Amino acid sequence: MLNLKAADLKTEKIDTLIIPVCENKNIHHTKLILSLVNKAKRIKGFTGKKDDEVILHAISGTKIDRAIFYGMGKADKIDSEALRSMAGKCVKKCIKNEAVEMYIATPNVSTVTLDESTLLESLMEGACLGNHVFDKYKKEKKEKPLKKIYVITEKGVVQKHRKLPAKISTICQGTIQARDWVSTPPNDKKPGQFARSIRALARKEGLKVSVFGEKELKQKRFGSLLAVSAGSKSKPRMVVLEHRPAKAKKKPIVLVGKGVTFDSGGINLKPSGSLEDMKIDMSGAAAVAAALIAVAKLKINKHIIGVMPIVENMPSGDASRPGDIVKSFDGKTVEIGNTDAEGRLILIDAMSWAVKRYKPHTIIDMATLTGACMIALGDKIAGLFSFDDKLAKDILDSADKTYERCWRLPLPDDYKELLKSDLADIKNISSTRYGGAITGALFIAEFMEGQRWAHIDIAGPASITKSNAYCNAGGTGFGVRLFIDLINKL
Ligand code: BES
Ligand code: ZN
Ligand code: ZN
Repeated sequence: MLNLKAADLKTEKIDTLIIPVCENKNIHHTKLILSLVNKAKRIKGFTGKKDDEVILHAISGTKIDRAIFYGMGKADKIDSEALRSMAGKCVKKCIKNEAVEMYIATPNVSTVTLDESTLLESLMEGACLGNHVFDKYKKEKKEKPLKKIYVITEKGVVQKHRKLPAKISTICQGTIQARDWVSTPPNDKKPGQFARSIRALARKEGLKVSVFGEKELKQKRFGSLLAVSAGSKSKPRMVVLEHRPAKAKKKPIVLVGKGVTFDSGGINLKPSGSLEDMKIDMSGAAAVAAALIAVAKLKINKHIIGVMPIVENMPSGDASRPGDIVKSFDGKTVEIGNTDAEGRLILIDAMSWAVKRYKPHTIIDMATLTGACMIALGDKIAGLFSFDDKLAKDILDSADKTYERCWRLPLPDDYKELLKSDLADIKNISSTRYGGAITGALFIAEFMEGQRWAHIDIAGPASITKSNAYCNAGGTGFGVRLFIDLINKL
């Protein structure tokens, strides 16, 4: 689908060619493109200002049917995200025009402040991620993704980066898979169904897959996880994926993702307005599963484990009650103060088990854990928590690079007091409503003593209600690109 090509623009038959244009500088070195840009700039009103555009048709002396000139603003303002956005918007435009292919002209690397691979990667990512439509539930498939996207550059550059298109496609396919899982309605991704879907895709890529059902989870004493699934007719699962190349280090990196296929709140039932979006509460599990599948496809030489506790949180006569006390996998008792704080209850069992079983080098959990994190950081930035400064820095660097933004929040020791229970070892909610993202993270921290651990609260960025430059409304697949970038550094 994605190609890097040294196309001859004079002879190649091109349906749509995208040419990014700056207002203060020429960013192309090809003669033909330069003359076209000059022509476009003679059209009144088009200067290359950010997001301005103009179209020229049937370019004479070529077989180019239509050239779209897209304003990038000032050249020194062009960063990765600006390129991703431009490429994504242009792909969407082509899809609307019912195009089948799109060509995009790469700015010359000497004209921008980015290195060559970042420049190409960003264009490819934006184009690939923008080329996704979730229409499984529509009879009429109005928008058809493009069949081919060509990133045009010089011969030498094509040669040097010939492996890049396949790599970027694989990573973006991961993001797209996560989006599809998140956008799938909750009646079609009950724990059993979601687990089977992960297993089928993971096996194809040669990952080792284990799926624990209710019986095994009971045997293993996952008391805290089982308390969450108790109210649902759909039985819980825990999926474990392992990628273990022969030469990789023994101690693995463990990624854990919250997999609540629908969070009604349980007996502490959520009100209307808060319920409708709660199919997205398995976004952490989707990101972990998709990242592991991509890691296997990319044959990354690291030992990585993905752990996905998957449950549905429902009210019923069998559901857990506020006031119940349950015994977690690691033996601590937990008072359930609120059945809607269920994510942390499934995570602690999955994580304690993974620590005991794998003795990880690093463990990172990703979860749509708290509405409070959205209050703190808005719906585009994830909350990051870790006691380990180096790990936190690595995550923040990857977040910057991929634009899957994270902001570090503190884990203050004296806030632990807020989780005290009169009767049990700990309570799953805080005694105050303030700092909910922090107390959620601190609850998990109580079970991660001595571990190199980070927690990423993605309640905000896991989904969007309005489409943006390279993602339609629904699941965003947040976390997949972040994880893959990060894994290479750990
Ligand atoms: N799944 C929710 C968090 C959430 C909220 C995710 C909005 C995405 C969007 C989580 O299980 C939850 O309900 N958390 C409670 C915790 C509270 C009861 C301590 C919350 O945030 O209100
Ligand atoms: Zn909840
Ligand atoms: Zn939840």
